[in-house]
Amino acid sequence: MGAVLYRLLYTLVLRRIPPETAHRLAARGVALAGRAGLLRLLGRPDPVLAVDALGLRFPSPLGAAAGVDKDASWYEGLGALGFGAVEVGTVTPLPQEGNPRPRVARLTADRALQNSMGFPNPGADAVARRLAGRRPGPTVVGVNVGRSKAATAEQAAEDYRATVRRLAPHADYLVLNVSSPNTPGLRDLQAVAPLRGIVAAVREALAELGLDRPVLVKIAPDLADEDVDAVADLALELTLAGIVATNTTVVRTGLRSPGVPLAGGVSGAPLKARSLAVLRRLRARAGDRLVLVSVGGVESAGDVWERLEAGATLVQAYTGFVYGGPGWPRRVNRELARRLRAATPPAGVEPASRA
Ligand SMILES: Cc1cc2nc3c(=O)[nH]c(=O)nc-3n(C[C@H](O)[C@H](O)[C@H](O)COP(=O)(O)O)c2cc1C
Repeated sequence: MGAVLYRLLYTLVLRRIPPETAHRLAARGVALAGRAGLLRLLGRPDPVLAVDALGLRFPSPLGAAAGVDKDASWYEGLGALGFGAVEVGTVTPLPQEGNPRPRVARLTADRALQNSMGFPNPGADAVARRLAGRRPGPTVVGVNVGRSKAATAEQAAEDYRATVRRLAPHADYLVLNVSSPNTPGLRDLQAVAPLRGIVAAVREALAELGLDRPVLVKIAPDLADEDVDAVADLALELTLAGIVATNTTVVRTGLRSPGVPLAGGVSGAPLKARSLAVLRRLRARAGDRLVLVSVGGVESAGDVWERLEAGATLVQAYTGFVYGGPGWPRRVNRELARRLRAATPPAGVEPASRA
């Protein structure tokens, strides 16, 4: 019923307003409903869905991908909608406007989005203040950290260090984003040498704070297979906690939507096959020594299930949520719980130990 209503709302209203405006309205609405206590009525995810990973307990393997809550303004509401985790950000040390609008397009015929946002965000201080007011609750909150548009390649490590220093106290885990296509030069940081420098700087910041936080790295789907292997090897060598795979793609082949803008990254259904292939490659390379967070083209509980079977510990979505509406995380959770219960291991086996 919720799905039908949302489709009607989407067709009659949301489709007619710019995607970024619709997103902002949704964020405000959910945040307000959360503050009014209305979302508590939705209930928590079925306990069978809990996943223990990164030293944390996730109420569901399904999380909101980076970009959904760029400024830490509605992570609590997103948790109430059924997401087990919210990856806030991408955050840079200072506030950034991002690229000129319009910078998000709906590719409806492809069940996809294209964005060239360029990390608009209020900066590390503002995000830290918002996260400092976080109320105790089961939703895991990660922070995704990026390089400022203005920083040179040499300044990149300092950028990550500064943001981590400010935000680590408020984050359950940290993701180093070196894979968005909308900050020029950012994806070059996926090469082994720069990545090594960034991880060292972030580790120093954590050591200065006396904090231990799981650190993951987020990679692009457009890396060659050997480069995916190289990142996995480096993550193992540096004992990173895991890899988030993948970000949006710059590949345009096979899209059916008319007038696809040239700039920006494509997300959603067109990304599904490559994201799954990268996950399988990472799992084959790293075994169970890394936590793999699979993201890209997840549209249903069946997709989440497929990622878990392919070796993901956690799964995230952005575009599937936009097209599925506010009831989507709960629908996915319900179906996942049904499948898990049908496949429940014998009594005595702890179901939350899938990590
Ligand atoms: C509008 C938009 C903004 C995004 N912003 C970010 C971001 O700030 N940082 C980031 O790491 N990924 C960002 N992403 C990428 C998503 O986190 C995700 O990796 C990608 O969209 C693939 O997942 P999906 O197919 O479920 O959307 C953004 C995606 C979209 C569509």
